Amino acid sequence: QGMFTYDPGFVSTAACESKITYIDGGQGILLHGGYPIDELAEHSDYLETCWLLWNGELPTKEEKERFIELVTHHTMVHDQLSAFFKGFRRDAHPMAIMCGVVGALSAFYHDSLDITSDKHRQKSAIRLIAKMPTIAAMAYKFSIGQPFIYPRNDLGYAENFLHMMFSTPCEDYKVSPVLADAMDKIFILHADHEQNASTSTVRLSGSTGANPFACISAGIAALWGPSHGGANEAVLNMLEEIGDVSRIDEFVAKAKDKNDPFRLMGFGHRVYKNFDPRAKVMKSAADDVLAELGVNDPLLAVAKRLEEIALEDPYFKEKKLYPNVDFYSGIILKAMGIPTSMFTVIFALGRTPGWIAHWNEMIAANSKIGRPRQLYTGPAQRKFVPLDQR
Ligand code: CMC
Repeated sequence: QGMFTYDPGFVSTAACESKITYIDGGQGILLHGGYPIDELAEHSDYLETCWLLWNGELPTKEEKERFIELVTHHTMVHDQLSAFFKGFRRDAHPMAIMCGVVGALSAFYHDSLDITSDKHRQKSAIRLIAKMPTIAAMAYKFSIGQPFIYPRNDLGYAENFLHMMFSTPCEDYKVSPVLADAMDKIFILHADHEQNASTSTVRLSGSTGANPFACISAGIAALWGPSHGGANEAVLNMLEEIGDVSRIDEFVAKAKDKNDPFRLMGFGHRVYKNFDPRAKVMKSAADDVLAELGVNDPLLAVAKRLEEIALEDPYFKEKKLYPNVDFYSGIILKAMGIPTSMFTVIFALGRTPGWIAHWNEMIAANSKIGRPRQLYTGPAQRKFVPLDQR
């Protein structure tokens, strides 16, 4: 066999060129199209950031208006798609539903199969951004046995998502601007992160010529794991398990014990060896939301103390394990009344523009099919042994 570079976990292999996102993990810098993430979180909004990821520039006023109109126009799902939900158990994990239903969109939009057409690719991209919140809210409504709530075209993107989550046919949920703004920020902070596991999955599946709905569904599946997007759900479960500041030392000791597989969820990152710039913004957004809602969550005290200890502890310092984006997002989402099982779904909504941007960039670059090699370590060639001789 030939000689290959052996790089398990792809820690030192660049698989593509990309203009979309720059990360300097040592300095804790994250730029989209050259713009720092904290400036985007403060001054931009999610759909504008989405445009930036797709086009490399911020939109003009007219471009932005047209884009918002286009996305708004596509928020409804085909009525037949609603029937899919009835096939799931009510206690299904919403990420399981997302994998299935987003992939199933390709059964509704046959033009998505033609990935050679710019027009069709753009249409699929708009449909994905527009319909993901509708599908996510439907997954939640289904799990609590409430009727689905239609999107409202007079509301902003994040506002509309919260409306579909929390309104009922009897009562409209009044979306507080502070909460809509925090949700929009959460989406911006998750919008892209270059070649992470789910984005690489989208690129790899897309490299075969598979349709965008199938590729994004593959990305959702990869995101679900607790080492990736599933960490936000795991953080909250961990904080609940710790329960009280007095028990933090016990959990920190477990995390440091090499014979114990337990890890402090929401700490550490493959690329950031410094504070995750997204975590900083998320932390201040958490403060805003808790102040707005007047929530005094004891888990926040646990989280703050845990962060202090981890930042002082020699083990975490030496390994450069800082809080990551998932550490604070759960606290915000919990305060908003979003159930833990929906946390990773919200990460998926936020990451969709990034997945699409990379999928498009890969197609535009005429990329080869992704096909990693291996170092074979199994038995050498041998003769087949008949059943009666084994
Ligand atoms: N708690 C305790 N020890 C840790 C942790 C942690 N959270 N993270 C890493 N370590 C230790 C690990 O045991 C290893 O020690 P040693 O060198 O002695 O074997 C060292 O730090 C390096 O860890 P690694 O697993 O080799 O690093 P990686 O780059 O392969 O993994 C990671 C990165 C994010 C998967 C990992 O830090 C982790 O499991 N963190 C907890 C889960 C989490 O918060 N994930 C969200 C990541 S950010 C959002 C996203 O990407 O979706």
